[in-house]
Amino acid sequence: MTVLFRTLKSCLALPRVAWAFPRAAGRALRSWGFPEGLEASKMELDIQCQEFDASKWKELVSTLNQHKTIRLDDCGLGVSHCEDLSSLLSTSQALTELNLSNNELGDSGVDVLCKGLLNPNCNLQKLWLRNCNLTKACCENLRSVLKSKSSLTELHLGDNSLGTLGGKALCQGLMDPNCQLQSLQLQYCELTKENIEALSSVLLTKSSLQTLNLSNNKLGDAAVKHLCQALLDGPCNLQSLQLESCDITHASCKDLSAVLSNKPSLIEFCIGENRIGDAGIAILCQGVQNPNCKIEKLWLWECNITAPGCKELAKVIGTKETLKEISLLGNALTDEGMEFLCQGLKDPKTKLESLWLRDCDLTAACCKSISSALSVNSVLKELQMSGNCIGDEGVIDICEGVRSPNCKLESLWLGQSSLTAVCCEALAKVIVEKPSLLELDVSYSHIGDEGVFKLCEAVKNPNCNLKYLILYDTYWTSQADKELKALEGLKPEFQVVT
Ligand SMILES: *[C@@H]1O[C@H](CO)[C@@H](O)[C@H](O)[C@H]1NC(C)=O
Ligand SMILES: *[C@@H]1O[C@H](CO)[C@@H](O)[C@H](O)[C@H]1NC(C)=O
Ligand SMILES: *[C@@H]1O[C@H](CO)[C@@H](O)[C@H](O)[C@H]1NC(C)=O
Ligand SMILES: *[C@@H]1O[C@H](CO)[C@@H](O)[C@H](O)[C@H]1NC(C)=O
Repeated sequence: MTVLFRTLKSCLALPRVAWAFPRAAGRALRSWGFPEGLEASKMELDIQCQEFDASKWKELVSTLNQHKTIRLDDCGLGVSHCEDLSSLLSTSQALTELNLSNNELGDSGVDVLCKGLLNPNCNLQKLWLRNCNLTKACCENLRSVLKSKSSLTELHLGDNSLGTLGGKALCQGLMDPNCQLQSLQLQYCELTKENIEALSSVLLTKSSLQTLNLSNNKLGDAAVKHLCQALLDGPCNLQSLQLESCDITHASCKDLSAVLSNKPSLIEFCIGENRIGDAGIAILCQGVQNPNCKIEKLWLWECNITAPGCKELAKVIGTKETLKEISLLGNALTDEGMEFLCQGLKDPKTKLESLWLRDCDLTAACCKSISSALSVNSVLKELQMSGNCIGDEGVIDICEGVRSPNCKLESLWLGQSSLTAVCCEALAKVIVEKPSLLELDVSYSHIGDEGVFKLCEAVKNPNCNLKYLILYDTYWTSQADKELKALEGLKPEFQVVT
């Protein structure tokens, strides 16, 4: 997906930035010590992976009251830093977003922060404390914050071992009429089904929550049943529900399906890494088919879906006009399943823009069907096919579909597909002839110098609009490397990502 790719790119770009400066955006550099552009930089501070000695920290703190949003991600912060940030919170009315993820603040650090948060001057709206080594001990104070701070709309507490008792304290805070929280992220928090009972009471009485991430907690079917009942009976208009890796089986699918068909507010639903299987997916699809369901994004990765499940999904893909994104990553769909999905893609009513089929046990045998689907489909923008053994033959077929005038594909991912130089002529034609194409991924392939030369030649063509040619773990000699480097200057918009 585009988002994931951007993240990857910025991570890889990190080591190139001098260690002496904050790693992230240029605006962060300017905000401490670069006078030019200071006006524009006042609002945001964005620093990642930078540790501060005492004097540098002092210097930074003296500038913090200018900012509306502060991100100090993975900066080695602890309790003493929290003292300064707490004073900031109690004095700076401008500060609305604070991101302290990936710092070992611990419970005592957060207790100190809460003092600032409880100050009437504090107007904070969004707080990130992901992976901060927190336990149930800090949840008492967070409960008080939830109860008294109605400005707070987003709270990210993922990757902290809050456990059943921590989760309970938070729910007590959420129950308070003052609490107006809209987004709550509790993935990897060691929550249990007891927490879901408390959360269900919240959902039965309050309507503010819009985004709820409960991924990677061992909830099980009984808890999910509770949750669904509360969503159905309560006033809540949830928009995004994340239940990845929550020990859910097909037994929960009837309840989830009822939520899908009765909650038009729900536009994003993720149930990845739960082995709901084909039987489960058939039930979910019934919910999606209901005209009341307005789902846009369905994340169904590693759900043990095979060909029969694809038959149901094809109907949804073909007819659900709100559905824009679907991920089937890590399901053994096989070529047989792909044949069904292609039927859905060919339906003139399909509105699907993004299809993830990474690691789906596909071979070259289904690529003619993909090609013929692409040649009649004008809405698909992103096709993620990496990790399937489709080989040169498969890619050549797919390229034929992409070259059809109807096809408006922008991103094509073909990494780890057993490719050699043989398919590069077809890829080169696509690069030249398809002005919509912006991203092409040929990572983990054996295209070698010969392949690289062909792709470079195509990129040089004035008709090529490609922005990213992605070539992780692909080998070539220094001669091919020169060709690739030469491209970077030639087209300002274009980048080779390695
Ligand atoms: C806060 O930090 C987390 C962890 O690095 C990151 O995923 C998130 O996007 C950040 N949010 C903002 C608004 O900076
Ligand atoms: C996390 O916090 C606990 C106390 O709650 C502490 O013992 C531990 O050293 C901290 N750090 C890590 C990496 O666990
Ligand atoms: C929910 O949590 C999972 C697990 O950490 C994460 O992968 C996903 O991006 C989160 N989703 C949202 C919308 O926050
Ligand atoms: C996956 O689904 C099949 C039926 O479609 C079932 O026989 C199998 O047990 C399931 N595997 C797991 C690990 O749940």
